[in-house]
Amino acid sequence: MHNKELLKGAKSVLSTNNVGGLIIPAQGLYPHTVLWDSCFIAVGLSHYDLKLAQAQVEHFFSAQWQDGMVPNIIFNKLFRYFWDRWIWRSWISVNSQPGIPTSGITQPPMLAEAVVRIGKQLTPAERMLWYRRVIEHLVDYHSWLYEYRDLNHNGLITLIHPWETGLDNTPPWLASLRHQHNPFLLNLIGWLKIDKVADHLRIDAHYVDPKQRSTTLEALRLYDALRLIRRKRYDNAKILIHPTFAIEDIAYNSIFIRANTLLCEIADDIDYQLPQNLLSNMHLTRQNLNQLWDDERKSFFSRSHKTKNLLKEDSIASLLPLYSGAISKAQADLIVKAMQDKTLYQTKFPLPSVPINSSWFKPMRYWQGPTWININWLLIDGLERYGYKQLASELSEQTINLVKNSGFNEYFNPIDGSAAGVHDFSWTAALTIDLLLNKTDQKK
Ligand code: GLC
Repeated sequence: MHNKELLKGAKSVLSTNNVGGLIIPAQGLYPHTVLWDSCFIAVGLSHYDLKLAQAQVEHFFSAQWQDGMVPNIIFNKLFRYFWDRWIWRSWISVNSQPGIPTSGITQPPMLAEAVVRIGKQLTPAERMLWYRRVIEHLVDYHSWLYEYRDLNHNGLITLIHPWETGLDNTPPWLASLRHQHNPFLLNLIGWLKIDKVADHLRIDAHYVDPKQRSTTLEALRLYDALRLIRRKRYDNAKILIHPTFAIEDIAYNSIFIRANTLLCEIADDIDYQLPQNLLSNMHLTRQNLNQLWDDERKSFFSRSHKTKNLLKEDSIASLLPLYSGAISKAQADLIVKAMQDKTLYQTKFPLPSVPINSSWFKPMRYWQGPTWININWLLIDGLERYGYKQLASELSEQTINLVKNSGFNEYFNPIDGSAAGVHDFSWTAALTIDLLLNKTDQKK
């Protein structure tokens, strides 16, 4: 297949998933718009349909809560999705936008990146208008994270649910889940081993082999954690008195640091004065990322807010500081070394979401091993900015070939390249477009 055909195929995935001007992650399993998905989608769209790209980003700003939080899901209002929005009932929060049903938690802050990628494709005059239109939303969102989630006043953001990481069942969070005290009903299901029966009731199992998803017990526990958050009406102060989860997530904070840098660039471009306390907080985050560095293991990890211990289960999240731009060259070298290590991340179809020597590694199970295109994209960007141009273009080439040979799937087996998860997944298509077109640009 030629790259031209691949590009055409990618655009057609995005148009198939376009529901009245909003692009959903995939038909069937994901009928609602999802925050970081929409940002990645906007990056791809920025190359050929700027208005549509802007609409994906602004859709989330229109649903931004009054305190500044940007929710990770905006629900489709069709009657048949009533149950999905009822699970969250965002209207019980005083902060949610009236008439816009959403979730009550957030997701990795990719908005600033999407805004800038769109900006790059606009004329200077249009860019100014675009940046002016969105800057307050970004400022409010970043300020919300500091106000409500910087629990240790060290600039590092704490997440309260695995869904906020975007890497739902990644080992550090799974380990933390396993340490939780289980509700009686879930224990009962476990003892009686009726989770296998429950497998058949799962909606995702209609679309994807359950072996490629979180286990039923894990999924039930995540819903239970959501129930507890909802019971507190999404009031962060109340949730955080006895949180089920409270983790300073390394992936999230790495992405946040990059988002802060981009927000400063946006503000600079339009001579907008960012609030002084926001600037000092940004500085703190950058400086304190090193609190998540383990000198013994020579790696970054997430940290439990409760125990203050690093969660030393290996996962691709530990490589994401490369995207932050805030780490030293020596730390970047160590990350790159891990990426190239055949016993860790260097598989035939890189990069596995968990290193292959880990006892958690499962090549087809969601965030427990498969290769994901958005993570490759983030790391390609990090490699480039740290000057590993050759490696960046190799990983880009491998990523494009993987999609070319296996399809626009949600994720892929890192050992044999086989497709997993849902078909025609939007961010896979959108980021393939971006990789393909950046490659052409570099040749010019
Ligand atoms: C899965 C992924 C999450 C993504 C969502 C929609 O839950 O783990 O990162 O945003 O699907 O595609």
